[in-house]
Parts: sequence; C-alpha cells; structure tokens
Amino acid sequence: MEVIIQQNSQQLSVIAAKIIRDAIRAKPDLVLGLATGSTPIGLYKLLVQMHQEKDLDFSRVVTFNLDEYIGIPQDHPQSYHTFMAKHFFDHVNIPKKNQFIPQNIVDNHVVFCQEYEDSIRSSGGIDIQVLGIGKDGHIGFNEPGSSFASRTRMATLSKSTLEANAVHFKDDINAVPEMAITMGIGTIMEAKQCLLLASGSAKKDAIAKTIEGPIGAMVPASALQMHPKTVFLIDEAAASGLSEIDYYKRAYNNKIKYIQPE
Ligand code: PGA
Repeated sequence: MEVIIQQNSQQLSVIAAKIIRDAIRAKPDLVLGLATGSTPIGLYKLLVQMHQEKDLDFSRVVTFNLDEYIGIPQDHPQSYHTFMAKHFFDHVNIPKKNQFIPQNIVDNHVVFCQEYEDSIRSSGGIDIQVLGIGKDGHIGFNEPGSSFASRTRMATLSKSTLEANAVHFKDDINAVPEMAITMGIGTIMEAKQCLLLASGSAKKDAIAKTIEGPIGAMVPASALQMHPKTVFLIDEAAASGLSEIDYYKRAYNNKIKYIQPE
C-alpha cells in the first residue's frame, strides 16, 4: 500500500497519468479498469493530451468500466456511457470493440454480469484499475455491507451515494437511479494494480477509515489494505484525517529519491 499525498488534485492527476502512460509504453495492449465521477476527469484530460500531443497510442488498449446506472438510457447525459465518451473515448484511439462498460438495463443481468467477468478474464485481467471513493467508502458501487468476495452484479445505491450524486441530476435525489451494475470488490481486488484517487475534505473520513481503520465490509475500500499493489493518490484535504501523514510523505520522498527516481 502506497500513500502519495499532494497539494492539489491536478498533481494527483499528473502522477496517475504518468503511471498509465508508462504502463502503456511497456505493454501496448494494457487492460485498463476505468472509473467515472468528478475525480478522474483531470486524469482523462491529461491522457487525451498525451495522445494528441505526444502520440500516446491507445490502439491496443482494452478498457473495462467499473459500473453503470440501471434505468437511464445509454445516451442519457448522466449515463456513464455518455461520461466516458465525453471525457475520454471520443478523444483517444481505443477501438470501440475494446471498450467495455456494464449495460444499463436489468434484462438478463445475471448472464450479462457473468459475461462481463468472462471478458475481463479472457482479456488477461485488469492491469491497472482506476478508482474513486465515495463518502461512504464505496469503490465502484460496492456500498457498505458489500462482500469482499463480491463479483460483477446488480446493486442498490446507498443513501449517501444517492445524495452525493444528486448534483448531477439537478439536485433531485429522486432522479438518481437507485440501482447499478458494478464490478464486485472481488473483481477489483484481482486487478494487478489499483490507483485510487481522492481529493477534497468530503473524502477525508472515508480515506482515514480506508487506509488506517480496521478492514471491514462497512468500509468497502478498506479491502484494498489487502491488495498487493494499491497506490492511494490523495490531496492534502482528503488526507487531513490520517494520523501518519508525515510518514507517508517521507516514504514517498525516499521512494522517488532512492527506490524509483522519476
Ligand atoms: P466523485 O465520485 O469522483 O464524483 O467524488 C467518486 C465515487 O463515488 O466513487
């Protein structure tokens, strides 16, 4: 578990984008797990820039999104299909057939979820999974109480998540879809590397519990304490509930000085 604390979210995006850029250069057919929400927008912007200005080639990259709402059409302005097209897919050269996003309908969801898992597996597994975190500690839409062994499935959003996401639905909580298809925690834990980004003081309790609290189903992201290669990229505000800030900063400084110079 590596905790990188930076002053602001732009610096987090830069570090995350460089990790992904280097991984694509080392493995052009990288399998990338992607997240939506406000947090990764800066990261997508930088990856688009690297593609447009520095020829970063995504033509063999395969992507799997974490989740999608159930019950709004794919072309709804707040669907995650629309989000990904707008912030990323429309601006890079990932072939459409390589872009996987959960479906937004209930029909055959059991079969669909199994096929989603099968597609991840047959792609060779996710190399890098980008994650945000909810105020309630969720990753994907794995809300408190989700099993650490959970797989891709249909899930119900917590009240905290409905409230947080209402801003995207004209502040009308009743307009936020109540259900989603999400990768499970067990699915996420199989990614070879996870990059969890968090910024802002609204995330500070979730981050403190995730990194320093006991591991438990009521804080889904705390499962990552058992993941062999997770990088937490957090800004000062999101880090402000942690008790070992000084240690994380020294450890990161020493890493870039002695272990893995940038
Ligand atoms: P946010 O959402 O990036 O919009 O804060 C993160 C999440 O709910 O996982």
